[in-house]
Amino acid sequence: MAIILGIESSCDETSAAISIEGKIYSNFIANQIVHEKFGGVIPELASRAHQQHIIPVVHQALAEANIKKEDLDAIAFTRGPGLLGSLLVGTSFAKAFALSLNIPLIDVNHMQAHILAHFIEDPKPSFPFLCLTVSGGHTQIVLVKDYFQMEVIGETIDDAAGEAFDKTAKLLNLPYPGGPLIDKYAKTGNINAYSFPEPQIPGLDFSFSGLKTSILYFLRDQIKANPNFVEENMSDICASIQHRIVSILLRKLEKAAKENGVKQLAIAGGVSANSYLREQIQALGEKNNWEVFIPKFEYCTDNAAMIAIAGHYKYLNGEFVGQDVGPLARWTI
Ligand code: KG4
Ligand code: ZN
Repeated sequence: MAIILGIESSCDETSAAISIEGKIYSNFIANQIVHEKFGGVIPELASRAHQQHIIPVVHQALAEANIKKEDLDAIAFTRGPGLLGSLLVGTSFAKAFALSLNIPLIDVNHMQAHILAHFIEDPKPSFPFLCLTVSGGHTQIVLVKDYFQMEVIGETIDDAAGEAFDKTAKLLNLPYPGGPLIDKYAKTGNINAYSFPEPQIPGLDFSFSGLKTSILYFLRDQIKANPNFVEENMSDICASIQHRIVSILLRKLEKAAKENGVKQLAIAGGVSANSYLREQIQALGEKNNWEVFIPKFEYCTDNAAMIAIAGHYKYLNGEFVGQDVGPLARWTI
């Protein structure tokens, strides 16, 4: 019976989780509110906050799962990609803890883990499937052939989808991270109130920088005519922008599924918490008779449950790393 401790510290969430035989028994997350007033994650502050949170978070995860540290069989940690200082805290902690307990250490790729979050609970996809991985730092269409055999077949050439949400929110004077707030305002807005252009990027790649510029100019012109434009039309603006971001994502995902003859679609990463994306991918599946997999909210944004699950499958393969392992700020899947 494999008992794995998962540790996540790639960005601004410090998280620890326990998996027993591939099932999650605890998943504790400490959010860092320190970044809110800066409108984005400040790497130096993130590392310091991880340093403060990591031991209490691990204690909590062990306690909630009713597991003693001596019961652990392995420690899985996010090795990358992410902020180097943040990754160093999780990596160093995992190494020291594994050394003290004399148990194996498992390195996990954060982007693979977002996808493997689909194996936490039923229904699980079968291989091969396509996963649209959309977070604050990544936007990828991944052809998932096996647990650790993944091919990126499309990705953003500039901003990530999460950045498109967060940068738009900043233009609307909403606090960081703006994605969830845009989602909230959009619920009562009209998606056709304003029209924003869809970029013409060949193949399966994405681009969001043009959209950001068109939103900037649109708002500048509207505010010139009516200084209260944003406050008066927040819901319609959010609904229209969200509609465009989601339609850009799903048009490419549909193309990828047709080109690859894949009939199972999944979404992963922080932006997969977006209610309109969840609704629209479901509609896309129904239209084409494809099966759609949507993670539970708590497994969309950064969490250690996905690290523990990825660790579980690596544990089964006997894929361990030594004490000379270091973090990788960039690490393709
Ligand atoms: O995966 P994640 O937690 O961290 C990274 O690895 O980047 O993703 C964070 C991103 C942020 O850009 C945040 O605004 C976005 O996910 N996000 C959302 C929603 N919830 C989180 N974007 C749109 N709608 C949401 N409901
Ligand atoms: Zn993430």
